[in-house]
Amino acid sequence: MLVLMKISLTTQLNASLEEVWAALHDPGVFQSVSAPFLRFRAEAQDGFPERWESGKTYVVRASALGLLPFGTQEINPVTSSEGMRRQFRDNGRGLTGALAAVSSFQHTMTLEPSGVGPTTLHDTLEFSAGALTPLMWLGFRVFWSLRHAAMRSLASQWRSAEAGRWDSRYAGSAMWSGKPNAALERAVEGLTPSHALEVGAGEGADALWLAEQGWNVTATDLSLAALTRGEAQRQSRVTRDHHPRMIRWVTLDAVNDSLPTPPEKYDLVVNFFGHGPKEVREGLWAAMAGVVAPGGRLVIVGHSPNDVAAGVQRPPEDMMFDTRELTDFFAPLCESLTVEQWQREQNGPGDQPVTVADVVALIQF
Ligand SMILES: C[S@@+](CC[C@H](N)C(=O)[O-])C[C@H]1O[C@@H](n2cnc3c(N)ncnc32)[C@H](O)[C@@H]1O
Repeated sequence: MLVLMKISLTTQLNASLEEVWAALHDPGVFQSVSAPFLRFRAEAQDGFPERWESGKTYVVRASALGLLPFGTQEINPVTSSEGMRRQFRDNGRGLTGALAAVSSFQHTMTLEPSGVGPTTLHDTLEFSAGALTPLMWLGFRVFWSLRHAAMRSLASQWRSAEAGRWDSRYAGSAMWSGKPNAALERAVEGLTPSHALEVGAGEGADALWLAEQGWNVTATDLSLAALTRGEAQRQSRVTRDHHPRMIRWVTLDAVNDSLPTPPEKYDLVVNFFGHGPKEVREGLWAAMAGVVAPGGRLVIVGHSPNDVAAGVQRPPEDMMFDTRELTDFFAPLCESLTVEQWQREQNGPGDQPVTVADVVALIQF
């Protein structure tokens, strides 16, 4: 008789979906999260591969605490992606030693954004080891809890250098004013609230303002720390005035990762002060243009390069863009566009008010 037993655990990991997905493919991570309870050696002469590949079979030798031989097992990864959901399945079976008792083994790790910043891992193991199944369940259950604790503590190391840099900038007190950007209200004037995406949402002041106007907002940022602050702010405002605000916070690298789905396309996409090297910012512009629905609007706002003359602190010159660059980039891609400089007041040197300008592009698709 086949006795199947199941373990199901869910864990929140403080890294982006793509960072966790990369970690699940890393045999080094597999070894780290298994140790010291179980230690694995690769049977192949050239050791572990650099990355687990879907559809391949790997044979590993296990020992308890590195001392007690457990025998060998196969690892058979099969991976799939659907929208923002990723699945890593391993139906590797025991081959020799105590592991040979495991006649059926189905390990499924499913990843999806939690909606509040971290990535959710749903981890399920279904296995059978004949009469030993209940005893092995106990061992696997303890092992699974240790694996999850190890993954939680390792997750910060899976972050990219750039994400780590932004996270540490956000680690102290609030970085921005908590007020929406001056240009936002005017940039969305006349639009009917529907699905909006903010890229580089920071601490979420713009996303919260949009949500208060009735937009269903997806707010993304490279920094998990920034989005966590935004979600705390959303919760405190909901508690304060009971006004529900729809915000899905997704930690991602908007330059290198896919933008969040569903929906596949947004009626409004906004990015404020996404300054970076030309190649990076234009990569970001192209990605954002790709998710604007027909008839939708893309809003891009940057600091005017002329502000430097007003003595205010601005990103280095090669990180800035002007009306000309925006017009040349978007004119061939859109239905119509307005690119202007909008003036506003801000505190300058010695806390004296100075007039600065934002470069604002309203791009209609
Ligand atoms: C200058 S801040 C602006 C924050 C916010 N939009 C505001 O106006 O207060 C730029 C934001 O972009 C985020 N960011 C930088 N590179 C990114 C990337 N590749 N993908 C997503 N967000 C990124 C940073 O973490 C930061 O929060």
